[in-house]
Amino acid sequence: MTKRVRKAVVPVAGLGTRVLPGSKTTPKELLNVVDRPILSYVVEEARAAGIEHFVFVTGRGKGAIEDYFDHHIELEAQLAAKGKTDILADVVRDLPKPGEMSFVRQMAPLGLGHAVWCARDIIGDEPFAVILPDMLMMAKTSAMAQVVQAHEKVGGNIIAVEPAPAGETHKYGIVALDGREGRLNRMTGMVEKPPLGTEPSNLLISGRYVLQPEIFALLARQGKGAGGEIQLTDSMVELMKAQTFHALEYDGITYDCGDKIGLLRANVAFALARPDLADAARAAIRDLL
Ligand code: G1P
Repeated sequence: MTKRVRKAVVPVAGLGTRVLPGSKTTPKELLNVVDRPILSYVVEEARAAGIEHFVFVTGRGKGAIEDYFDHHIELEAQLAAKGKTDILADVVRDLPKPGEMSFVRQMAPLGLGHAVWCARDIIGDEPFAVILPDMLMMAKTSAMAQVVQAHEKVGGNIIAVEPAPAGETHKYGIVALDGREGRLNRMTGMVEKPPLGTEPSNLLISGRYVLQPEIFALLARQGKGAGGEIQLTDSMVELMKAQTFHALEYDGITYDCGDKIGLLRANVAFALARPDLADAARAAIRDLL
């Protein structure tokens, strides 16, 4: 029996250099896609996967994230007094149950591996999810839920993957598979940001993981890797010596919102997918073209 995945680590300390200057004073994770911050979609996706506790790994200048997930008493009172119940419902929809969220500060930008390691005491000794919020996913079944279901099926560690756009494998973690049959395959390796031409496959690591807690001891002594950062991928390679890793080609579409055009695409795609906005969005896009 596999242990249930209850907690998720959400690294949100990154500077958002590709979407500056907007991300100078607004955490990039709170930039809107249509009319909700990116994190709103990500938390919804994780809740649909059964996640009950979120550990945000934050950093300097990210205080607005904590405020977003708290009551804004004045605003809520004003909206209620004016009878703006629809807007009020939107404002409170993402609020956690008391105690459902923790915030831990990554005090230096040392890399994704270090960020995940910062959550070790709150995760404890159980399998957990990692969700990279730059990667916004549109899927019929929540992408994180697909990964959790794969974990329930085969146990061990699970990584969501997808085909990389041509010529872009060097920007991501890339997995190596032991044969490719169906969507869930045993992995034999992975490498962070391989130079073009050396990638072991075209499948990139999409930013949704279920990991076993043994990763923390490996992260604690992980040296710097690609880009001079402590890479989660490198510690996963170490853990693979002792535990199984499966790659799940998840069913859905990923938008990289850490990138200008990715964020634009996400806005267009999510607007077109909204029954209340689709017609107006289509008309506006047609008009612009
Ligand atoms: C991180 C991971 C990488 C993954 C990517 C997805 O890289 O290290 O393996 O493919 O997220 O966005 P980063 O984007 O932080 O450089």
